[in-house]
Amino acid sequence: MYQTKIAGLGKYVPENIVTNDDLSKLMDTNDEWITERTGIKERRHIKKGDGNTTATMGVKAAKIAIERSGISKDDIDLIVFATLSPDYYFPGCGVQVQEMLEIDTCPALDVRNQCSGFIYGLSVADQFIKTGMYKNVLLIGSENHSGGLDFTTRGRSVSVIFGDGAGAAVLTRSDHNGQGVLSTHLHSEGKHALELSLKGPSTEHWVPEIIAENPQGDDIPYYPYMNGQFVFKNAIQRFSEVINEGLQANGLEVSDIDMLIPHQANLRISQFVQQKFRLSDDKVYNNIQRYGNTTAASIPIALTEAWEEGKIKDEDIVVLAAFGSGFTWGSAIIKW
Ligand SMILES: CC(C)(COP(=O)(O)OP(=O)(O)OC[C@H]1O[C@@H](n2cnc3c(N)ncnc32)[C@H](O)[C@@H]1OP(=O)(O)O)[C@@H](O)C(=O)NCCC(=O)NCCS
Repeated sequence: MYQTKIAGLGKYVPENIVTNDDLSKLMDTNDEWITERTGIKERRHIKKGDGNTTATMGVKAAKIAIERSGISKDDIDLIVFATLSPDYYFPGCGVQVQEMLEIDTCPALDVRNQCSGFIYGLSVADQFIKTGMYKNVLLIGSENHSGGLDFTTRGRSVSVIFGDGAGAAVLTRSDHNGQGVLSTHLHSEGKHALELSLKGPSTEHWVPEIIAENPQGDDIPYYPYMNGQFVFKNAIQRFSEVINEGLQANGLEVSDIDMLIPHQANLRISQFVQQKFRLSDDKVYNNIQRYGNTTAASIPIALTEAWEEGKIKDEDIVVLAAFGSGFTWGSAIIKW
């Protein structure tokens, strides 16, 4: 079996900064409530006409990751694109990226696992690289949330949390035994699918029906729904379980963790996990304060920033962990 390493990382966020005070002009909310409950101070939103879409942001992040990897785009064997907010209902963003990067007809795969999307994508890429089927995989997580959120008071418990952005990684076969992805651990629990979901449009509730039935009605399946407290309770339990699962699978202790990059769901969730594992501040990376929750993009953006800031060094044990809609959750243990 081969091993997978991260050869390059990149990120892109739109320029447009939206503060909590900006949101309080649109809905009944305030900086104090948002900061206290989520840690978020500002997030980035695509502006109409700025050229950003889920796919184009992904491409911007990918170009940086490819350049840093030293691997030619023409040597990419597979594209994996994780998002819950694709530009089109179909096809997925993976094929758009293949076209925009002018990569020949390589396979392009879209992953629909929301906040766990990057870890699911990493696991998929890792399996292909391990078996030798592919050598280089471009993995992207990108989200355009702002276009689909309810910015009235009705949607405030969801819409203040999410932001736009993209992160990318080039994964390649490692030359050094023991360096790279040590293991990945994936889970889902579909019985909670509707506790954090966007129900429409779907083939159960297709667009003409939605419009015909609810021109201005209360049934708004085309906006995300979140049972916040239920999600919170499940998140803190699953984050802890899946981090422990990853450590145990590799014979590691909590004290071996050099850097934990949790999916940036909510600062309070990250802080809970940090306290539970008794990790010092320098061993947990958070940037939700500046970007909000960018779902599939949050781990690659945070990982890129942590690496850019010199907080990840060779031989470090880096733990990625995520929980989100599905419910889905997962972890990855990487030796840098
Ligand atoms: C969403 C979340 C921040 C809400 O915090 P909470 O403490 O559970 O708050 P509640 O939903 O109980 O709402 C408390 C009150 O604040 C109000 N409120 C909700 N959103 C608000 C906002 N943006 N601004 C001001 N008030 C708000 C509610 O209407 C409610 O008012 P009421 O008491 O008069 O009914 C919290 O549940 C959470 O973080 N959940 C996890 C979410 C998450 O991580 N999602 C991503 C998973 S990947």
